[in-house]
Amino acid sequence: MNILFVTPECAPLVKTGGLGDVSAALPRALAALGHDVRVLMPAYGHMQARGELTGHFVLPAFGPWPAAQLLQLERPGTAPMWLLSCPELYARGGSPYGEAAGPDHADNARRFGMLSRVAAWMGTAATPCGWQADIVHGNDWPCGLAPLFLRHARVGATTPVARSIMTVHNLAFQGLFPMDACDSLGIPAQDRGIDGVEFWGQASMLKAGLQFADAITTVSPTYAHEIQQADNGFGLDGVLLSRRQDLHGILNGIDTQVWNPATDKLIAARYSAADLSGKAANKTALQAHCELQPTRNRMLFGLVGRLTDQKGVDLVARAAPAIVQGSGQLVVLGAGDTALQDALRDAAAAHPGQVSVTLGFDETLAHQIEAGADAFLMPSRFEPCGLNQMYSQAYGTPPIVAPVGGLRDSVTDAADGGGGFVMASHDQAAFGDAIVRATNAWRDTGTWRAVQRAGMAREFAWDAPARRYASLYENLLNAAP
Ligand code: ADP
Ligand code: GLC
Repeated sequence: MNILFVTPECAPLVKTGGLGDVSAALPRALAALGHDVRVLMPAYGHMQARGELTGHFVLPAFGPWPAAQLLQLERPGTAPMWLLSCPELYARGGSPYGEAAGPDHADNARRFGMLSRVAAWMGTAATPCGWQADIVHGNDWPCGLAPLFLRHARVGATTPVARSIMTVHNLAFQGLFPMDACDSLGIPAQDRGIDGVEFWGQASMLKAGLQFADAITTVSPTYAHEIQQADNGFGLDGVLLSRRQDLHGILNGIDTQVWNPATDKLIAARYSAADLSGKAANKTALQAHCELQPTRNRMLFGLVGRLTDQKGVDLVARAAPAIVQGSGQLVVLGAGDTALQDALRDAAAAHPGQVSVTLGFDETLAHQIEAGADAFLMPSRFEPCGLNQMYSQAYGTPPIVAPVGGLRDSVTDAADGGGGFVMASHDQAAFGDAIVRATNAWRDTGTWRAVQRAGMAREFAWDAPARRYASLYENLLNAAP
């Protein structure tokens, strides 16, 4: 199959969270199954694209969009990539979505409308680059209009038009724009109602994807279930419920070439389940790097992530005094909401040498925390999948997780022979209880080794999920009119 994987971010070129990791690993895993997979992403100004440019196509100005180019980038060991180059829209600093730690760009409807428009175009015989997709697989709201444009391309078409898939990585981000944006984006009047893109008076790019995609996936079975309910549906539970026949939960994998303690060059010492001895050197190096008291006798808890309400970071900030009092240490790497950053900074100031907080994005330190911490904290309020709890299990760093979404699907409690600790509910007391349970287990080396090894034995590679995506694509193509 010719598969176009459309995404606003792809590691290592540009990454703000888990979608960046998924966009690098899933296309590669699909290519390993023998499919012709291409990744389509904007050419951002802040991106460092290393690779060989092997193709170059000009896209004429169209509707509200200026002329652009498609640049084909080849990098060893990864799926070929089409970079959508349009400096007026994409050559900016900051993140893919806005100014660094600032508001989203005001013209995001146009920026990501264009990404969706070009993706849909590549699914038709009029493709601008000589390669036509059978499947256009979009990810999150920036790709949400592609299924709508493909639906329209299908009307009266005499040549095949690609089937569309929309993957929800996070329902909290919806791509909402004033309704009048529909005029310039080419969204016809009949699609602007409640059965189309309309969401409480605005136009929602995510809703467009959910309404018009041939299939919808999300990144864990439990999240697929949760988002059909009002509590976690962010107002889209009704749409998702109405499409439940076409909604599939496929748990993400992890890139075992990038996240593997036996081969990881970013960490102080390599180790494996068979020989965990190198893990202690990673803890020592991490304590030194983060100016924590250099001791083996304190259990070191780690956290890496976006500092947002989603991630339950407030629970972590509030738990810091108890962690230190219970002879523990805390190391945090993240960036996000000012109030959460301040709360963490206050905790670090109150406990010098025992709590360390690094604000910013640092891929190397993220690996070092996975390897050097004793346990990993992830008390998320909701979590579509979550990758860090899988990385931490692979690194023998048992995660302490909330009983939600993909955390439920990827962590089994130590009490049931698993490699982590699942909170009984989502509140401060349950978080504290789980930390105490983990601490007690850690104090007994034999018990702790068993928990570590249970996590490390768990299979999180992309091969199995990639096969599930491939069979979903096949079903769509077989069912095509
Ligand atoms: P989400 O996508 O919701 O942010 P995930 O757990 O799926 O959560 O993925 C987060 C990814 O982003 C992980 O690879 C994590 O290591 C990385 N990450 C998040 N924040 C940072 C940071 N401040 N520095 C380095 N890596 C980070
Ligand atoms: C989102 C979710 C996270 C998921 C990631 C990759 O950012 O918040 O849970 O792991 O996407 O699918």
